[in-house]
Amino acid sequence: MSVAHAARRVVTCDPARATQADPLGVVEDGAIVVLLGRVTWVGPRGDLAPGVPVVDHGDVVLTPGLVDAHTHACWSGSRHAEYAVRMAGGNYEAIAKAGGGIVSTHKSVVGCDAGVLAQELAARLARMATLGVTTVEVKSGYGLVPDAERKQLHAIRDVARNASLPHVVPTFLALHAIPPVSRQDREGYVRHVETVLVPEVARDGLAEFVDAYVDRDAFQVAEARRVFEAAKRGGLGIRVHVGQFADIGGAELAAELGAASVDHLEHVGPSGMFALTASKTRAILLPTASFTLAQTPPPVASLRDAGVELVVASDANPGTAPTESLPLALAFAVRAYGLTPAEAILGATRHAAASLHRFGVSGGVPRGALIAGAAADFVVWDLPHELAIVQPWGVSRTRLVVREGQVLHQAHGHNVQTSPRT
Ligand code: NIG
Ligand code: FE
Repeated sequence: MSVAHAARRVVTCDPARATQADPLGVVEDGAIVVLLGRVTWVGPRGDLAPGVPVVDHGDVVLTPGLVDAHTHACWSGSRHAEYAVRMAGGNYEAIAKAGGGIVSTHKSVVGCDAGVLAQELAARLARMATLGVTTVEVKSGYGLVPDAERKQLHAIRDVARNASLPHVVPTFLALHAIPPVSRQDREGYVRHVETVLVPEVARDGLAEFVDAYVDRDAFQVAEARRVFEAAKRGGLGIRVHVGQFADIGGAELAAELGAASVDHLEHVGPSGMFALTASKTRAILLPTASFTLAQTPPPVASLRDAGVELVVASDANPGTAPTESLPLALAFAVRAYGLTPAEAILGATRHAAASLHRFGVSGGVPRGALIAGAAADFVVWDLPHELAIVQPWGVSRTRLVVREGQVLHQAHGHNVQTSPRT
């Protein structure tokens, strides 16, 4: 049966409603109608069809569910000792070279039971849901050795089946670090990923995207190209970690191959920027990672001027982004990167969904915007205006978080009343 949800401000993120003055397409005194997990109608509350029961949320904001388009949420272990060393001045890349960093999480993941790995991921996703997140991209990339990568991808797939958690988009992070056992045979490692693992992941439907960390202490453009071409042959999309520490040409490669996203970009240079300008590749900004690493922001104004669509994500991982909070990333994107609140909100809804092929692609169910036909993924905030979403740091201000019409999270003491409109 149809149910309407009404609120003082319904932030649709619908491009058809957006104007220069109102890029978020807000309907004041608005409502959405939900039937069988989909949005069937959006508009002013006064135009609702008679007889539809209305849940009146009152003088608050209702938005699409947030979409976190870059996370490494599948991990085990803890890097607290390394974190303390880094906060006291230790260098992230030097720690990684000495066998810490990604490789230390790799060791935990290798030793972790598959069920426990899945449980830890599920717990993280459940906490993300309390913050308003209804879709999460989850990368592998800590297994590193083939069997442990498979274990991660299977854990992600198992958790993705749980409808009481956010919707999951799995990514095979194929090149993240060379595992210690392959240090003497880097070429053999890349070849195995290219010729065995990527085709297997594509065949078994274990991921929708393939990612690679292209940077001075990570992987070269030529190595990533081989793996991405294998991904394309298998029908998988491409995401690329680019320019986190140095620009070695990852953005040019991403643009050339039609990647869905380039992520990080703190050090992207003019040639990479130029390549992105002419592409449809979206820029995923990860402000909590650059904050943790005490880095200067990416060239956000140039990206904006070049017409590159901006996405904001949490980067949730045990090393550079020890958070699970997309709203915190939005607050940092506004405070430290100079995004407008509307840019930040679009970067965590429609643009993030588009980067995950969940908006603007034919055939799929749209997410990240409240339009007829989209998944009924939405958040009722305990906030009077969308400008406030980027303001409260470190607390959850959600009242109600819904995925496909089902409640993922309801805040304590939240009381809604349903009344048929007559
Ligand atoms: O996105 N840059 C590489 N990967 C992660 C960090 C991984 C880690 O330190 O565990 C990132 O920042
Ligand atoms: Fe990352």
